Amino acid sequence: MFESPRCQSGKRLMSIRETSIMKKPVRIAVTGAGGQIGYALLFRIAAGDFLGPDQPVRLQLLEVTPALKALQGVVMELGDCAFHTLVDVSTSDQADVAFKDADFAFLVGAKPRGPGMERSDLLLGNAEIFRVQGRALNDHAARGVRVIVVGNPANTNALITSRNAPDLDARQITAMTRLDHNRAVALLAAKTNVPVADVHRVCIWGNHSTTQFPDLHHASVSGKPALQQVDVAWYQQEYIPRVAKRGAEVIAARGASSAASAANAALEHMRDWVLGTRAGDWTSMAIPSDGSYGIPKGLVYSFPVTCNGGKYEIVSGLEVNSFSRERMDATRRELEEERDAIQHLFGG
Ligand code: NAD
Ligand code: LMR
Repeated sequence: MFESPRCQSGKRLMSIRETSIMKKPVRIAVTGAGGQIGYALLFRIAAGDFLGPDQPVRLQLLEVTPALKALQGVVMELGDCAFHTLVDVSTSDQADVAFKDADFAFLVGAKPRGPGMERSDLLLGNAEIFRVQGRALNDHAARGVRVIVVGNPANTNALITSRNAPDLDARQITAMTRLDHNRAVALLAAKTNVPVADVHRVCIWGNHSTTQFPDLHHASVSGKPALQQVDVAWYQQEYIPRVAKRGAEVIAARGASSAASAANAALEHMRDWVLGTRAGDWTSMAIPSDGSYGIPKGLVYSFPVTCNGGKYEIVSGLEVNSFSRERMDATRRELEEERDAIQHLFGG
């Protein structure tokens, strides 16, 4: 039977010829690596889609013990791709091991919802995962680790993670609303019949849930205000709920939650954070509030952000009308309720 010597966990996968022209490898931890999103994400990271073709990566994969055998098959496939940027892959069922010296952590591993469920129904079941992993990041990751939480409910899981990682700056731990952002861009582009590249300055405020507020008040389509190009009733009554409920729409069609689009969004969130957002545009990231726009400090809330020099910054000075204020406050209230339900998991 064919067994490549290069596809085993922990073995060196990259040739000497390639290392001589590349940078020092970075360590990337991915949790839930054996799941659906993991399967779509690992190959993109390993191929260089995250940090570029001249940045070697070491993958440190975390799974629950029963999933390790199947994960070994994924490791074989990674080896069989002969990616030039993949130095090695290790697997573990111990967060302390998977997060050791990690420069980046994609926290994907958590239960997904099924049809008829809200993401908040996952809160109590998934919360303990993030308590444990926050502590492990605190004790073992590189001091500059950048973290994205994908597992739902993502904002509040990020809050749990950071409250259990007191030695890290809370700003290092973020949650994903990039999928909502991308959905909002794609739906607006389709409605106005332009390429997605012509849509700018869309943003998602608040929670990765049905209370999220996809905001078009500052958006442009082909250089002109978006809200002058679509019907306001369409925006308020169709667009907002469609973006906010797109996850459920995918679940109803696919019988499982979004995976490839989620993996793509996670990769873009992290890539923009490190390499910067496009000039003249912004993106959406759920980050600890600094009190901007009346959102209480510390709440992990999605804001419009720009990234530059490896740092993100909330876009300031946007006008908030009463329609927007009402929605921004509704999603803020939901996040406060989620926070209050899991306070007991905050480290002392
Ligand atoms: P999945 O069930 O296919 O995979 C999850 C994997 O996590 C499984 O392999 C499981 O064994 C593993 N896992 C469970 N507990 C773990 C732990 N303690 N440590 C390490 N691994 C663990 O699910 P999926 O489709 O990959 O989705 C993963 C999560 O991402 C779900 O919570 C889903 O709701 C969420 N999600 C979020 C977004 C977003 O936009 N924020 C988008 C899509 C999915
Ligand atoms: C999504 O938005 O697709 C994910 O959060 C999965 C879900 O539960 O909707």
